Amino acid sequence: MDSHHWLKLPFMVWWLVTVVKQCHGQIRRTTSDSLTSKATYGYISVKKHDGVKLDVEILNKPQKSTHQECIAGCRDFPNCFSINVNQIDADSVDCELLEGDRFRNIANMTSAVGYTHYSINHDCEYEDTCIHPNKICIPNYVNGSHQCICPDEFVDEFCLKRRDDTLNLAYQKPATQSAPYNHDFVDLTPVTNGIYGEGCQHIHTEKNYAPWLRIDLGTWNYITKVDIYNRVGTTTTYLNRILNTEIYVYGESPDKERKLCGVTKGGPEFISTVCPKALPGKGVELSKPSPGSNGKTIHICEVLVYGAER
Ligand SMILES: *[C@@H]1O[C@H](CO)[C@@H](O)[C@H](O)[C@H]1NC(C)=O
Ligand SMILES: *[C@@H]1O[C@H](CO)[C@@H](O)[C@H](O)[C@H]1NC(C)=O
Repeated sequence: MDSHHWLKLPFMVWWLVTVVKQCHGQIRRTTSDSLTSKATYGYISVKKHDGVKLDVEILNKPQKSTHQECIAGCRDFPNCFSINVNQIDADSVDCELLEGDRFRNIANMTSAVGYTHYSINHDCEYEDTCIHPNKICIPNYVNGSHQCICPDEFVDEFCLKRRDDTLNLAYQKPATQSAPYNHDFVDLTPVTNGIYGEGCQHIHTEKNYAPWLRIDLGTWNYITKVDIYNRVGTTTTYLNRILNTEIYVYGESPDKERKLCGVTKGGPEFISTVCPKALPGKGVELSKPSPGSNGKTIHICEVLVYGAER
């Protein structure tokens, strides 16, 4: 069942658009403006929860006749963050626009026959966003981020148990690549051998259209951070080739349970990328799939992967 309802309706609007980075959550809220005649499109993406309602103060109760119309009504209110719809009969509904959401008011979520609760689609809707059964995930609807509130003993920002921050999950794990540069650089052990900095040996992929390097962690982990040590003793131009490399976490195979951890920025001698949330996976991929101005190759000394066992 598809629980994501996308609405794309012509509307009299001005934009109040929030761009969300790398998250499931997306909100493009539109606000009606009767003074402009410009017709454009807006949407709100919601997640459906059948048989429940959120029992909080009602912000607005517009006259609507369908679920879709009621959801569309929420777009008009900058502080509408969830919706209750009560199907009265075949062609009428009670539409309740709410300022609260189920995350901040979990105790007010109740079973209610005939009701459907819609919440704004957000990372917090996904069970694995904060890694603990008693977590509370607080969405930020403005920039799409979230905050994990965890029981005391679970201390990090992902609700993962405090762990040894020096534990590198990639250490001595096998790597594969798109192709070796110039038929040389076939041995990929240097990229996970724990040796970086002065005197390290780097790996070097062929200048393919979309070069990649994968590290097989062997077991399922929650991955939270990927550090890259660049090759040494070369020019900044070459070092900068590492920029804009996409870092993915994948599951059973590179095309399964694939999620973007981040895109490399800064450095270029050392680049640390923190994932927006703890990503479950068995492998990490560095790839340069988009056309770039700065060399289509990956040549680095070491990749270190941090997180916790799943
Ligand atoms: C949640 O429900 C309680 C009890 O019905 C009520 O007093 C409280 O105001 C509700 N919370 C909100 C945010 O409306
Ligand atoms: C989003 O906004 C919150 C609150 O202002 C801030 O703490 C957080 O760092 C922001 N996150 C991102 C990804 O911009």
